[in-house]
Amino acid sequence: MKHLGSLVRTAALVSKHIEHFSRFSPSPLSMKQFLDFGSTSACERTSFVFLRQELPVRLSNIMKEISLLPDRLLATPSVQLVETWYIQSLTEILDFLDKNPDDHRVLETFVEVLEGVRNRHNEVVPTMAQGVIEYKDAFGRQDAVTDHNIQYFMDRFYTSRISIRMLINQHSLVFNGNSNPAHPYTIGCIDSKCDVTEVVRGAASEHTLTTSRSVFTHSLTHSFIPRLANSLREPIQISYVPSHLYHMLFELFKNAMRATIETHEASRTLPPIRVLVALAEEDLSIKMSDRGGGVPFRKMERVFSYMYSTAPRPSMEHTHRAPLAGFGYGLPISRLYARYFQGDLQLYSMEGFGTDAVIHLKALSTDSVERLPVFNKTALRHYKLSLEADDWCVPSSEPLDLAVQRSAK
Ligand SMILES: Nc1ncnc2c1ncn2[C@@H]1O[C@H](COP(=O)(O)OP(=O)(O)O)[C@@H](O)[C@H]1O
Ligand SMILES: [Mg+2]
Repeated sequence: MKHLGSLVRTAALVSKHIEHFSRFSPSPLSMKQFLDFGSTSACERTSFVFLRQELPVRLSNIMKEISLLPDRLLATPSVQLVETWYIQSLTEILDFLDKNPDDHRVLETFVEVLEGVRNRHNEVVPTMAQGVIEYKDAFGRQDAVTDHNIQYFMDRFYTSRISIRMLINQHSLVFNGNSNPAHPYTIGCIDSKCDVTEVVRGAASEHTLTTSRSVFTHSLTHSFIPRLANSLREPIQISYVPSHLYHMLFELFKNAMRATIETHEASRTLPPIRVLVALAEEDLSIKMSDRGGGVPFRKMERVFSYMYSTAPRPSMEHTHRAPLAGFGYGLPISRLYARYFQGDLQLYSMEGFGTDAVIHLKALSTDSVERLPVFNKTALRHYKLSLEADDWCVPSSEPLDLAVQRSAK
């Protein structure tokens, strides 16, 4: 009983903190600020003081939104589990609010706690995906408003997670990691001279290996090495997080390869996947073109949805080895990575021919500013939307004369 009492007290205390910290807006940082923060003049104390406020703010903002999810989704074991991780992590970070920033032992423990938080949240994406599956299995497909709410929430929730991991990684790598002599321009997980074509090549070749080993039986020809239209020119460099770019390209290659192989199963040669990279004053754009038969226009909206996937459902065991495989989260999460620093990811498809996937990123580190969700009245209104009549006519399959009579109301 005593244990239960203390749990109740902790929960009450935590919700008080969530109320308090969710009243602050998160402070978006620019790539340039991240770089300055981590440069030679980096001050661990300043970073600590910033993070012990900013992390609770970001966590609390998104925890308010978790609590607004449809009850039946919130109550699934998977979503409950994710919620306890958030409460635990928030509590651990709040412990540092009254600690002395001039004590180096405090700074050391802070890094350890942050790394613990990061590891605790490693499986958040497949666990939330599992929650959506549990919910769909129990209640079937939901109305459009519920779908919209879940989509709205997931985009914000995963963006928040990307941003929190970015803050944690920067702090722990800059103040605890060793500098990498092979990459002198790397500050934390940012490369101020990230060679985009090199990342494209890396994502393609890594993928050729994994696909040839397990997923596809079709032998892969060297035509799958991406054709870089501008590979002979100077290296194309921007300030970016190579792991984010890699993630997006890896997912795009996976989709392009799957589509190509499935469409050309019967033929002996496979049409190549082409990649074009363009850097100008404002934008860095990457276009990946395949001839994998494309997606019908009607289904284009679904490819970014968290509620659909055409791939067979993976078991939870499998996802530990290959997170994200087949949950249908490849495109939506990749788009969030692109949007996180004010870019975007778009898909143009021609059914019967193929697909162009385009990633747009900001060329300048001053333009690459974190895009973060904030919990406020506008956000709240999204969760309170209710099912109303459509303000566009629904095409009728009834005979014309009947439909005319009805439309007189
Ligand atoms: N290049 C492509 N060509 C054809 N279909 C595609 C392509 N990229 C994505 N798709 C479609 O979009 C869906 C969603 O893709 P994604 O988000 O990566 O999830 P998953 O690959 O796990 O299904 C795919 O299942 C596929 O039907
Ligand atoms: Mg995919």
